[in-house]
Amino acid sequence: MRIAVVGSGYVGLVAGACFADLGHEVLLVDNDEAKLAALQNGEVPIHERFLPELLARHRGQKIQFSGDLQDAARASQAVFIAVGTPPTETGDADLSYVESVAREISGAVEQYKVVVEKSTVPVYTSQWVRTIIMRNGADPALFDVASNPEFLREGTAVTDFLYPDRIVIGVESDRCADVLREIYVPLTSGSYYRNPTAIPRPDRAQVPPRLIVTSTRSAELIKHASNAFLAMKISFINAVASICEAVNANVQQVCDGIGADSRIGTRFLNPGIGYGGSCFPKDLQAFRSVAKECGYEFRLLDEVIRINEEQRHRFLRKVRGVLWTLRGKRLGVLGLAFKGGTDDIRESPALLLVQDLLREGCHICAYDPAAMGRAKEVLQPGVEFASDPYEAANGADAVLILTEWEEFSALDLDRLRKLLRYPIILDGRNLYDPAVMAARGFSYHSVGRPSALTEDLPAGVRPEKKERL
Ligand SMILES: NC(=O)c1ccc[n+]([C@@H]2O[C@H](COP(=O)([O-])OP(=O)(O)OC[C@H]3O[C@@H](n4cnc5c(N)ncnc54)[C@H](O)[C@@H]3O)[C@@H](O)[C@H]2O)c1
Repeated sequence: MRIAVVGSGYVGLVAGACFADLGHEVLLVDNDEAKLAALQNGEVPIHERFLPELLARHRGQKIQFSGDLQDAARASQAVFIAVGTPPTETGDADLSYVESVAREISGAVEQYKVVVEKSTVPVYTSQWVRTIIMRNGADPALFDVASNPEFLREGTAVTDFLYPDRIVIGVESDRCADVLREIYVPLTSGSYYRNPTAIPRPDRAQVPPRLIVTSTRSAELIKHASNAFLAMKISFINAVASICEAVNANVQQVCDGIGADSRIGTRFLNPGIGYGGSCFPKDLQAFRSVAKECGYEFRLLDEVIRINEEQRHRFLRKVRGVLWTLRGKRLGVLGLAFKGGTDDIRESPALLLVQDLLREGCHICAYDPAAMGRAKEVLQPGVEFASDPYEAANGADAVLILTEWEEFSALDLDRLRKLLRYPIILDGRNLYDPAVMAARGFSYHSVGRPSALTEDLPAGVRPEKKERL
């Protein structure tokens, strides 16, 4: 099928590359000329595993890049809208990019096509998109609007797209449902997975995925409710971690105990410095806002958001509790991306913490395997950037682990200890076992677990004792 994908960012580019791998002809549209030129030149503007391979495989053949939305929409049977929906000052989703795309599409509706919301949008958006397209002159018999929310996670975006837990399509007509079914048939029939060139199946994936057909409104709510629930799981375990710190328990053991209940499960029960990224923070705010508009005060979400912000402040207090004064301290920071596997720094708690530490007068030398290019635009001047974790640690008063990159959980600990001015690690992602770290000669402080101390901190200021709940 000929498919246009409008917006070639994290979601659009991955979706477009994956649709091509499923055998479709894809027109990837963007209005950012620099991004388009880079894509046309063979560059891959985001760090995402398997994306370079897919783009190299299909560029110029099943994938074409274009700046002409109307031409692309006219030539396509399905038009996916994957533009940004950032928060406004009040926390609502800014849908002006979606509206402007809908307006342009209206001039391209000459034969039946399906316009698909891929962006995360509040309930009722598909009805608004339909209204805008009609208001601008399109024949209502010649198009349908569907919702097909995207559940991919940055860092594993390509495999998440090709091996999803489920595919949700929100539709108002059988004709529209048939178009979307056809697009995903290589996944739902399992034929893609038998293809020898298919992207390898990740461990946990169940194939073929289930296709869930709903109304457009339900599909829109499924996406917001899913993100809100996942964020709630993170804030829940972070709250439990705070209690663990107060009573000297180990949140990892608590997680193992609660996660073993199959109704709860272990996934997303990872205590740390809080969630971030371009989705959870804005989607929670937007969901809270749309709920309010519909007459429901979703106070649970207020608390999820509050715990998340507090988690970062707690970690900052922990750093203070370990290092005493901060002005002039040199800190090696490992991780700037909002999570491992991506170069995305939007709403990254790591980046926000670095900014807090700079305000406290610390000298920061940071390293991130993928996000330094983007971070430099925000943090320079003021932060030094290292070429590896050891350079970041060299001469530092302490190392802070702020992003859960795999390479940070496999550091050469002896080398690290020798490079540090003091063998102190504050781990905001719980990547190491405190007992192992103590045996390797570190003072090691993590989230929700007893600290491993190789030194005698003044009575009463042991970080896990000091915090008030
Ligand atoms: N990033 C994620 O992990 C993720 C996951 C699921 C859903 N989503 C949702 O998907 C949507 C897109 O997110 P993203 O992270 O890909 O955003 P992004 O900012 O990376 O990409 C958006 C792209 O749209 C382009 N664009 C904006 N207006 C345009 C227009 N009028 N015509 C053509 N191109 C236009 C921008 O230039 C940009 O390249 C958001 O609603 C987001 O909430 C994101």
